[in-house]
This record gives sequence, C-alpha cells and structure tokens, in this order.
Amino acid sequence: MAVQTVVSNTGISLGPAAALSCRECGERFPLGPVFACEACFGPLEIAYDLPGGDPEALRARIEAGPDNIWRYAPLLPVPADVADKPNLNPGFTKLVRADNLARELGVTGGLYVKDDSGNPTHSFKDRVVAIAVEAARAFGFTTLSCSSTGNLAGAVGAAAARAGLRSCVFIPHDLEQGKVVMAAVYGGDLVGIEGTYDDVNRFCSELIGDPAGEGWGFVNVNLRPYYAEGSKTLAYEICEQLGWRLPDQIVVPIASGSQLTKIDKGLRELIGLGLVEDRPYRIFGAQAEGCSPVSRAFKEGHDVVRPVKPDTIAKSLAIGNPADGPYVLDIARRTGGAVEDVTDEQVVDAIKLLARTEGIFAETAGGVTVGVTRKLIETGALDPSLTTVVLNTGDGLKTLDAVAPTTGPSAIIRPNLDSFREAGLA
Ligand SMILES: Cc1ncc(COP(=O)(O)O)c(C=O)c1O
Ligand SMILES: [Zn+2]
Repeated sequence: MAVQTVVSNTGISLGPAAALSCRECGERFPLGPVFACEACFGPLEIAYDLPGGDPEALRARIEAGPDNIWRYAPLLPVPADVADKPNLNPGFTKLVRADNLARELGVTGGLYVKDDSGNPTHSFKDRVVAIAVEAARAFGFTTLSCSSTGNLAGAVGAAAARAGLRSCVFIPHDLEQGKVVMAAVYGGDLVGIEGTYDDVNRFCSELIGDPAGEGWGFVNVNLRPYYAEGSKTLAYEICEQLGWRLPDQIVVPIASGSQLTKIDKGLRELIGLGLVEDRPYRIFGAQAEGCSPVSRAFKEGHDVVRPVKPDTIAKSLAIGNPADGPYVLDIARRTGGAVEDVTDEQVVDAIKLLARTEGIFAETAGGVTVGVTRKLIETGALDPSLTTVVLNTGDGLKTLDAVAPTTGPSAIIRPNLDSFREAGLA
C-alpha cells in the first residue's frame, strides 16, 4: 500500500477526532490523508476525544439535532459547523418493524429492517462519503475519487457535485447498468476498468503514489480512516430508533467488511458514553457464496482470509480480498455471531421475500442479508426469540436484472372484461 507523506495537523479541526491510530500496533499519527501505519503497515483509524459527562445531556443534544447523520456530529470526525455546509445530508433512514417477514422467518423477539435504500443516492454509501467530503475539504483535495463496486461511485459523484468538487471514479467495467448510469449522471468522470474490483482498487493505490493523482482524495483509500467512520452512524441510529437500546442481533452484508467493523465500533462507543445500557449483542456477517472469503475463513476456523475471484450477482459485495476481513472474524467470534453465505438463487428468493412481505425492494446486497438471516435461523446460529436488526443497504431499482428473469406481469390481456375473466384473476 502506498503511504502518503504525513501532513501537519496544524489548523486541521475535525471535531472530536484527536489522531489516527494503528489498528494493529496502536501507534498514533496526526490527522492527515494517511491510511497505513508507518511502523507496521496496519490500517489506521480515528481515535477520539469523545464528549464525556452526563449521558442525558448528550442524548438531548443529539435528539435536538437535524434528521440526518449530523445529529451525531459530536461523535464524528467532522467540523462543528458541518450541518451548515452544502452536502447531501444522508441518514436517519427508516427502521421498519418487519412483522410480516418475522412471521415467515419464525422470529418472535422483534425483527427490524434498517432500510438504507432511503438515502440520497439510495445506498448506505452516502453516509461514508459525507464524512470523507469533510476530510477532503480539510486536507485541500480538489478531486474526489474512489474505487467502487457501484454504489460508492454514485455517492461520490453526487456528493462532489453538491460540494463543488471535481469527481473522477473508477469501477469494474461490467457493473449493473443502474449503477453505471447513477455514477455518470452527476457530471463527474467515470472510468470503467477491465478487471475486478480488486484490480480497480490496486490501480487507485498506484494513482495515489503518482503525480497524476496529486490533489486527489480517494474516499476509500487515502481518506479511508475518515470515510469508514460514517458507518458508525448506522449503529447510532439503530439504537436511538429502538429507544436508546442495543439490539440483541444485527445482520450486516460484507464487501470490504468496513461497515460491519464500524457498526461494532459505534455500538461500543454508545456503551462507553453511557448512552445505552451495556448488554451483550451479536454481530453476523453476510456474503454471497460466489464471493465468500470471510464466511469460508469463519467456518474453517481461520484467522486469515484467503482472497477469491468473485463470481456472483451480488456485485456490490464482490470484493475478493476484503481489507477488514480479519477484523470481521474477530468481531463475529467475540460477540457470539457468525459469518454465513447464500447462493445467487437464494439471494433472488430473499429479495422477493422482503418485497412480498414488507414492501421493501432491496438490491442484491439486501437479498444476501435477508437470505443469510433466513439461513442463520434455520441453522440455529441466530436466536429467533431475540430482537434482530437486518440491514438493507441498497435499492432494488439499481439491480433490476437480478430479479427481472423471474418476475413480470401476472397476465397480458386485451382491454375488455372477457379477456380479464379468461386470465383467471377475478
Ligand atoms: C449495497 C452495499 N451494501 C454493503 C456493502 C458492503 O460494504 P463494506 O465494504 O463496508 O463491507 C456495499 C459495498 O460496496 C454495498 O454497495
Ligand atoms: Zn502499526
């Protein structure tokens, strides 16, 4: 991995963010566009000086904030005036009580779908990008960029347009049309690369070390420590929407594994701040069988994740060499969770199940998550008597091709009553 020169943090103020710290050796670095430890090459993450004191006062402050992720600004690496700047204001999406789905799956302890398809570009990526934009502004980057499996490309294009930054994003050339169009429509540059996501990501790392990438903030590479923190807001929202209570079980889709890792970080912060009662919770990871390196390592009892070449309809989760894979394994094991995978056919069935029971049309990643939830209940890994939250991270309109072959009109008729009666629908 390329390491950029550490810039001085003089004058850089990102709210409660105190420093970057290495997730492997704990070494600390000043805030800057660096993402790997100089000492051991471990990934860097944000260390905070979080607001201490009275939890009631902090809760009240959060509740009085805007209906978007900026209500949690005191817990995020963003400047205090973040909500006043032009941005897409993602977050505070619906936590849907899914009683119909619960009945189908046999869940009795309360089942909820956190529906992040309601974000501005219809995936959870708006959360992470919103934080990365603030870091890009702070470090003086003029071009916003990323390597993407599709959703991130759209989120970066839209956020850059709103923030007045140039954007140039990189994707595998063979993504779903809905994602390609969404990535291009906001007017930035979009580059399709002949290769997998892992090839795209490697190329972006090279670009960072080259003069051609000067002034470029790659949200999920050289801005990754900041970007990744956006996923904590999912944990905050879920707990607040449950009445400041931890769920017992959460099922999270895995591509790089960053979202799952940061949801755990967010939950631990809420406990540490006294905003929720300290109770056990379990985190489960979901992958598609055609790209299941973390699930395989979990089942085989390994600590290392062996990279794979992805082959699945769940293209947004098609990362064969997930950066946060080992951390996901740790979290699943520490919390008493698991990592499981489902076939493409089960993904499509699960998309339809969620749509039929709750009126929520998920993209393939949501199908993976619901499918894995069903499988975890069947295998006994997930306890149906406990409060369970399932994430839907993206909108089904972006991956229509996945369900199109097995859905369509019930009948095509002539516009008269006889024809309708003949169709047998009356
Ligand atoms: C819809 C959707 N869900 C989940 C993920 C997984 O995110 P992560 O890389 O943080 O594991 C992605 C990643 O692109 C995604 O697009
Ligand atoms: Zn280190």
